[in-house]
Amino acid sequence: MTSWESIDADTPLTAYDLDELRRRRSVKWREYEPDVLPMWVAELDTPTAPPIAAALIEAVRLGDTGYPVAGRLPEAFAGFADRRYGWRPDPAAMRLVPDVMSGIVEALTLVTEPGARVVVNTPGYPPFFYWLERVGRHVVESPLAFGPDGFRLDLDRLERDFAAGADAYLLCNPHNPTGIVLTPDELAAVAGLADRYDVRVVVDEIHAPLTYPEATHTPFASLDATAAARSITLCSASKAWNLAGLKAALAVPGEAARSEVARIHEEVSAGAGHFGVLASERAFTEGGEWLSALLAGLDANRLLLGTLLAERLPEVVYVPPRATYLAWLDCRALGLGDDPAEAFLRRGRVALSSGPTFGPPGRGFARFNLGTSPERVADAVERMAATLT
Ligand SMILES: Cc1ncc(COP(=O)(O)O)c(C=O)c1O
Repeated sequence: MTSWESIDADTPLTAYDLDELRRRRSVKWREYEPDVLPMWVAELDTPTAPPIAAALIEAVRLGDTGYPVAGRLPEAFAGFADRRYGWRPDPAAMRLVPDVMSGIVEALTLVTEPGARVVVNTPGYPPFFYWLERVGRHVVESPLAFGPDGFRLDLDRLERDFAAGADAYLLCNPHNPTGIVLTPDELAAVAGLADRYDVRVVVDEIHAPLTYPEATHTPFASLDATAAARSITLCSASKAWNLAGLKAALAVPGEAARSEVARIHEEVSAGAGHFGVLASERAFTEGGEWLSALLAGLDANRLLLGTLLAERLPEVVYVPPRATYLAWLDCRALGLGDDPAEAFLRRGRVALSSGPTFGPPGRGFARFNLGTSPERVADAVERMAATLT
């Protein structure tokens, strides 16, 4: 029987015990009662990567706490993207934005008119739905296909949704919550459809640095296609290095979208955090070793979760993600109704993300955050199993 003790402990995921984590004041650790194990929002239970910590400590030592400028961040990201994905976007064309969500809103506001129809795959990251409606863009839900091998992009369905009169497509790749990573062929097909139906593509690649070895992340903008040249991509170090609270992301235009991204207003960029810029720049230039150690630990966790679920909750259908630390669990066979996370919380005292908030295909599902120690992954599965007794 696999147990968490057999997992290599020398990863960033095992640095803190529960008492230390409960002293954190971020939303993951403050939302629920102290007896609840939080496995929900996409925060990592890791220490700050040492090169990033050094950059922040140096800034504090200098009293360097003024307003942000993009500075060397665009160049740092271009170098990272070149080394990792063989894609070298032009730093001069990038714009600093506070975070990926606000960058998506800016991009869609630039490339569409009020009342526009924006296609979003479901299940989908919940803020996509309410942020877009808030700025007067209507979400068109385009479900992914689901089969025995897990989820995949349903190109026929996407075509029907484009053909019905879509203005833009908010592509999330790698995908939250399913962890799928689109292949170059799938991306080329998306670009072909976008050209045929004149749909602008805005791409959320926030999870790209967290792609596991068996998959390869292909930036949409790196394709040789008109839709890629007209795309705007949002990139950030915030998921892979757990910097969400520091606030910095980049809007990266394809060649034909440079003038649109150039119109992102100064005051939008000014909403970014100076520490976010400093930390992200350091992540992209010197954070590679730490990221590799993190990925090794997450890789072990995603396999451990499969073993533990097979032992303790064999009715749950789980296909390990090919990127990122979120596991999308099909709990429909457990008989816990549309929102199994609610039962896990109430009876098991473990907080997963609620499936239905990801759109209608999320009914009966829950999202599990693997970005913690193997011990806590095991504890969470025990709490889930206890829900059923
Ligand atoms: C797919 C996706 N996009 C955007 C975000 C939010 O990113 P930010 O905090 O930079 O707005 C998340 C957060 O988990 C995410 O998973």
